[in-house]
Amino acid sequence: MDLFEYQARDLFAKHDVPVLAGEVIETPEAARGVAERLGGRAVVKAQVKTGGRGKAGGVKLAGDPAEAVEKAGQILGMDIKGHTVHKVMLAATADIAEEYYVSFLLDRTNRTFLAMASVEGGVEIEEVAATKPEALAKIPVDAIEGVTEAKAREIAEAAKFPAELIDQVAHVLVKLWDVFVREDALLVEVNPLVKTAEGKVIALDGKVSLDANAAFRQPEHEALEDKAAANPLEAAAKAKGLNYVKLDGQVGIIGNGAGLVMSTLDVVAYAGEKHSDVKPANFLDIGGGASAEVMANGLEIILGDPDVKSVFVNVFGGITACDAVANGIVQALELLKSKGEDVSKPLVVRLDGNNAELGRKILNDADHPLVQQVDTMDGAADKAAELAAN
Ligand SMILES: Nc1ncnc2c1ncn2[C@@H]1O[C@H](COP(=O)(O)OP(=O)(O)OP(=O)(O)O)[C@@H](O)[C@H]1O
Ligand SMILES: [Mg+2]
Repeated sequence: MDLFEYQARDLFAKHDVPVLAGEVIETPEAARGVAERLGGRAVVKAQVKTGGRGKAGGVKLAGDPAEAVEKAGQILGMDIKGHTVHKVMLAATADIAEEYYVSFLLDRTNRTFLAMASVEGGVEIEEVAATKPEALAKIPVDAIEGVTEAKAREIAEAAKFPAELIDQVAHVLVKLWDVFVREDALLVEVNPLVKTAEGKVIALDGKVSLDANAAFRQPEHEALEDKAAANPLEAAAKAKGLNYVKLDGQVGIIGNGAGLVMSTLDVVAYAGEKHSDVKPANFLDIGGGASAEVMANGLEIILGDPDVKSVFVNVFGGITACDAVANGIVQALELLKSKGEDVSKPLVVRLDGNNAELGRKILNDADHPLVQQVDTMDGAADKAAELAAN
């Protein structure tokens, strides 16, 4: 989960990374009071989850509260790379002498954590990384050892920070590592980390990405979610504990196991080419259990998607045998009907694996008018695509 800059700033403050005062607002008029509290002058910054805000005109200096209102009015509602600005942060202004770059991230390729740092930070860091890679120090960080004071100095020295700043920069790096570890982040980036005219080192802009897999032990992170931006079907699925991703096609997909569901998306997309180019409408992995309740929850989400014209249930019986899944489907359809849900879209079911014969018999005996079975994955995909196209 990527955070907004103001949320990153809050996490930095919580872990003693030096930041400037700042407040987030959603209306231009609210900028007046905030600017007054910040001493009159303020930097008005668009809060969008994309880079290059400054270049796009989303970061503006205001000399007094009236100007802050004016600048906030210009930035709110602005479109930056397809992201509409709904919030701006007003931050205290820094008298910047130098702009640097530092980050910690998970380096999947090398199976380690990585520190990156450069004294050539600021809005052109991507350019620096591409054209002057030697100016960007990359130091692996051992997961167990972490960033000690000594390690932090090693990083700062590798990036050629001036000698008189090494202590301060090392201190910031140790604190940023605290953010990285204690908040279960995958990325913590500061660009720019600045030296002020008085020689103080401050994080002026922050980018943090949190590891959603650690959500269970980070109860405070839920409040950081951007609920307004979430797809309503994805939000409903998440509330039911389902692994669901909305896509833009017409064939609803339910399968058990992420690998099977991924390949189901492929075969449906392929089959769809022959049927008015219909495509899968979602990813939904109901996992190994596949009980009636889970099946009902999954079907409820998928049938609630107005884009869905047909549903493909693709199950390979393993520990949960196909007869249990077949019973789950039958009960799920009854459950939805009794709840008054509109169950009117055709379902194509393919059962294979453990107890497939028995599962198919259960569905045949139930003889539900909307359910039809196809024994092969390709055949079922073709049928589901055809039904969606008509
Ligand atoms: N509080 C501040 N005081 C003075 N100058 C600032 C302040 N915040 C930002 N700036 C200036 O604006 C520039 C751009 O700001 P910032 O890094 O926050 O946005 P950005 O880099 O354009 O956005 P992104 O990081 O999304 O690409 C900074 O490099 C800095 O020169
Ligand atoms: Mg920046």
